Amino acid sequence: MNRIVLITGAGSGMGFDAACRFLENGDRVIGCDRLESGLELLQARADYQGAIFDPFLLDLAQFDSFVPTVEHVKSLGKLDVLVNCAGICSGTPLETITEEEWDHTYQVNVKGPFFLTRMLLPFLSKGKEPTIINISSMAGFTGGIKSNPAYSSSKAAVTCMTKNLAKYCAPMGIRVNEISPGTARTAMTKNWLDPQTLDGFTSQVPMGRLAEAGDIAKVIFFLASDGAGFMTGQSLHVNGGMYIP
Ligand SMILES: NC(=O)c1ccc[n+]([C@@H]2O[C@H](COP(=O)([O-])OP(=O)(O)OC[C@H]3O[C@@H](n4cnc5c(N)ncnc54)[C@H](O)[C@@H]3O)[C@@H](O)[C@H]2O)c1
Repeated sequence: MNRIVLITGAGSGMGFDAACRFLENGDRVIGCDRLESGLELLQARADYQGAIFDPFLLDLAQFDSFVPTVEHVKSLGKLDVLVNCAGICSGTPLETITEEEWDHTYQVNVKGPFFLTRMLLPFLSKGKEPTIINISSMAGFTGGIKSNPAYSSSKAAVTCMTKNLAKYCAPMGIRVNEISPGTARTAMTKNWLDPQTLDGFTSQVPMGRLAEAGDIAKVIFFLASDGAGFMTGQSLHVNGGMYIP
């Protein structure tokens, strides 16, 4: 399709699978991540497919690190799709979470995506049917579980930011939506929860399994498509029925 698609958190999980889908579709993908390893894998896939992949190391907690990516987009002249996928989960409970961990969670999940988006808006406004897709979380709607006050509240902030950006960007022709995934089997949950706890969540899912990264990538791809052309400010719950608003 020859769109230019920028994905944060492209090195792993949902961002990685979304990058694969856009590359397979013939889009040019700018993949950003704090870590290099996943980006190298994507580069190898893109080279094999003859697709264009531009990897950038970017840390959402360090605004200075946004500059090379933004300069690259500037050199391309436009951006069609922005996927704010990177995020971290602070699984530290109320009793022990430090101010530093709280701030870092908000920096990566809310503040970084907001300021990166603001830097990219001039290029999105020149894009073809431009769109922004944020990744919030079911936890931002339900309050999460007891051990993640910073994460769940930061994701509720992402949902409100999505709605606010949708109103601001609509006159510019930019649609802004989000996906609110339920519990998914990715590095995030595998690093945070022991296998028994993760398996235990399955009993809460009417469809009988946890989400896979690919389930979310499909919906990211849909939101970037013409099929979602009259949608903005919406949160799509992709969770097998685990949470039904
Ligand atoms: N896994 C779940 O159960 C679940 C549920 C709801 C929402 N989410 C959200 O989905 C999104 C994707 O998560 P995932 O499950 O694919 O996790 P993941 O850990 O597999 O991928 C997250 C990616 O973000 C990158 N990242 C982390 N901190 C960063 C930073 N400071 N700057 C740039 N990149 C950074 C990581 O290196 C990693 O590649 C996140 O926003 C997460 O909060 C996940």
